Amino acid sequence: MRDIKSAGTAENVDPGALFDFSRLRRSPDVEAPNLFAFDATDKLILTEAAGALAVRSDGPAEADGEQIVPDGGMRAPYAGSTVAVVGDRYGALTLPVVSTGGGNVRVHQDLMAGERALDRNAAELGLSGRFRRFPLGKELFDGVSVVLWQLPKSMAELAETADQIARYARPDVRIFAGGRIKHMTMAMNALLQDSFGEVHAGLARQKSRVLTAAEPIRPTEEPAFPARQYHQELGLWVCAYGATFAGPRLDIGTRYLLEFIDRMKPDAQHAVDLGCGSGVISAVLANARPQITVTATDQSAAAVASAAATAEANGLSHRICTVQDDAMAGFPTGSAELILLNPPFHLGTTVHAGAAVRLFDAAARVLAPGGELWTVYNNHLHYRTQLQERIGPTTVQARNQKFTVALSSRS
Ligand SMILES: C[S@@+](CC[C@H](N)C(=O)[O-])C[C@H]1O[C@@H](n2cnc3c(N)ncnc32)[C@H](O)[C@@H]1O
Repeated sequence: MRDIKSAGTAENVDPGALFDFSRLRRSPDVEAPNLFAFDATDKLILTEAAGALAVRSDGPAEADGEQIVPDGGMRAPYAGSTVAVVGDRYGALTLPVVSTGGGNVRVHQDLMAGERALDRNAAELGLSGRFRRFPLGKELFDGVSVVLWQLPKSMAELAETADQIARYARPDVRIFAGGRIKHMTMAMNALLQDSFGEVHAGLARQKSRVLTAAEPIRPTEEPAFPARQYHQELGLWVCAYGATFAGPRLDIGTRYLLEFIDRMKPDAQHAVDLGCGSGVISAVLANARPQITVTATDQSAAAVASAAATAEANGLSHRICTVQDDAMAGFPTGSAELILLNPPFHLGTTVHAGAAVRLFDAAARVLAPGGELWTVYNNHLHYRTQLQERIGPTTVQARNQKFTVALSSRS
């Protein structure tokens, strides 16, 4: 791995002196004393990228960057580059850049709760309209010279994003990809080296580290995503973009839930696949019941795109519609006869029951009287009481060594 000479004076810029991170909130995402709207990684990424961010980059890619001369105020440090921000949780990367003069900032967040929190934080700070949103792809990275990136947990998401940057960004793009050290592996460096000629691991600081990368290697092949896998046991294809839970594989909890599909409200005309991921549950249900229509919904853009791809791959698009939404916020109250759920147990990298409970509350609101919620969960989670309190009478339908399948009827 070769080092990258960074432009500017990265080491002199203290993001905490430029931007009041304590004003950021996670809302409408779950808020709790042990959950934070920013972390040391955000600040380290901004510190490491400060030199590159201060270089004007609207000219041809081959030209040397023009260093912006600080004017003595706080506005110069992040003023120059066309920037893509990827994986920002609640605005701790985007908002410091736009608040200190960053004029051309493009943002991609996979999760809708993160998008809504960023919008809310931007409004609170008078920074609305200072950045633009794009899906992962050409529009996001075309002409970009700096990428600020909160590294994802999943290697597939890392590979997909690295491919897209290398495919579309400027040849002189610099990537600043940070994470918590406990979630980083050497495999991440190796994966980045497939897409970039230069990759360098920075020093650890406050349990975080930033990988810098440059010299994109333009891929010559078509993108590998969505990944596709044929499942003999289901007789179905499953498709998945990088950020999708379990990828194109079948989660073992999901497999268990699917064993009970025939018992789920047999007369239902319509069902909701809540937290649809790849859309595998929607596809199995639609395939098993030729009359039913299914709404597959998830807060993840990648999941919703995957569910659409899965429906398409199995010729089921006419009976499966996809909706990106945070906990069915836009669904009418009392509108669903049947909801199927394999709930999340993580909020970002933190294991937290709040993510599942939010979906139970959402199901309680959206289910029609007499409607059914079928949930699968790890035995140790003891969700039955929560389901009973929030939805209505809840019975355990089956339990194996690892998972419980519960049926809750809306009272
Ligand atoms: C355990 S995965 C299950 C995925 C898929 N149903 C399966 O069985 O493979 C949970 C899913 O819930 C989604 N999710 C988490 N919080 C959500 C929210 N607030 N609104 C909608 N979906 C959410 C996640 O993005 C993830 O795809």
